[in-house]
Amino acid sequence: MTDLEPAADNLTTLESHILSEETRHPGATGAFSWILAAMTLSAKIIASKIRRARIEDVLGTLGSKNITGDTQQKLDVIANETLLRALGTRAGVAVLASEENEQPIILQTKVDRPYCVLFDPLDGSSNLDACVSVGTIFSILRHDTQADPIEISILQPGTKQIAAGYMLYGSSCVFVLTTGHGVNLFVLDPAVGAFILVQENLRVPESAKSYSINEAYRADFPAGYQRYLDWVHGQRYSSRYIGTMVADIHRILVQGGVFMYPPTKAHPQGKLRLMYEANPMAMIVEQAGGKAVAGTQRILDIQPTGLHERTPVIMGSAAEVDHVLRHVKAAGAE
Ligand code: AHG
Ligand code: MN
Ligand code: MN
Repeated sequence: MTDLEPAADNLTTLESHILSEETRHPGATGAFSWILAAMTLSAKIIASKIRRARIEDVLGTLGSKNITGDTQQKLDVIANETLLRALGTRAGVAVLASEENEQPIILQTKVDRPYCVLFDPLDGSSNLDACVSVGTIFSILRHDTQADPIEISILQPGTKQIAAGYMLYGSSCVFVLTTGHGVNLFVLDPAVGAFILVQENLRVPESAKSYSINEAYRADFPAGYQRYLDWVHGQRYSSRYIGTMVADIHRILVQGGVFMYPPTKAHPQGKLRLMYEANPMAMIVEQAGGKAVAGTQRILDIQPTGLHERTPVIMGSAAEVDHVLRHVKAAGAE
């Protein structure tokens, strides 16, 4: 390489990557960068809390339930408060909405607050006590200043997301982000406290013989999913299920495969929440070249009617999603 050629291995942090993207948009106010700076700060704090959880005795449940009926872990509340404190002070945030809060939080109604941020503060939190990976998922929407009441500003389909991302607190801490122009992967360097860009334009493999579903509920699944499972068992696939959606989908982004959470008797609409779990993960999977559907409808096209509504989920490698859909559609047509 000569001095004049750009280095292929330039060191770039998430913050500098966003700043350089913003220079491409002449009207940008910097508000978006501030929001992402709040997300990276939150990620570092939450990652550190998780690493120290047993030492600080913040594992286990609180004895309370959140709005969607899940038992709250102490760290669910700590992660939620961290995000609310980090985002609540940022210029540019009009509305915040969390899995752990029944109602959206209105911060400002003025036009100079252009964004809504929705999040699942800790995904897979029942895995915490077992030292298994957990994550944070977020979705950013443009604030609808005409919305009346203001809370309904967030009720936009996933196609309207202007950014989505997740942090995975695993053997390393990763931050995966899309702003609608592909997917970038950053890893926290704990020695310097910065998220370093390690892969641009991440692509999900087109196919891979791997499926991810809580098969214990098989008898409760609609017939098409049961037939898919019969088919897949004859195809020499591997089964992988972490029980933390963000970790299961991260694995699929890197290695390929399909993740499913179908309707069950306990959860006729599926268990996963549309606005802060399915939509952001669907945007990332599609931006990486994969597919994300709820039964037969594209997840991103669903018009939400409530902050905490649920949706069935099938997402991952395009060819693997198609295999599931083939069986689901055939059973539906009978
Ligand atoms: P959360 O911890 O935010 O409530 O989410 C848990 C979700 C998701 O991460 C995971 O895929 C799913 O619950 C696992 O559910 P089952 O135990 O029913 O398989
Ligand atoms: Mn979750
Ligand atoms: Mn959660």
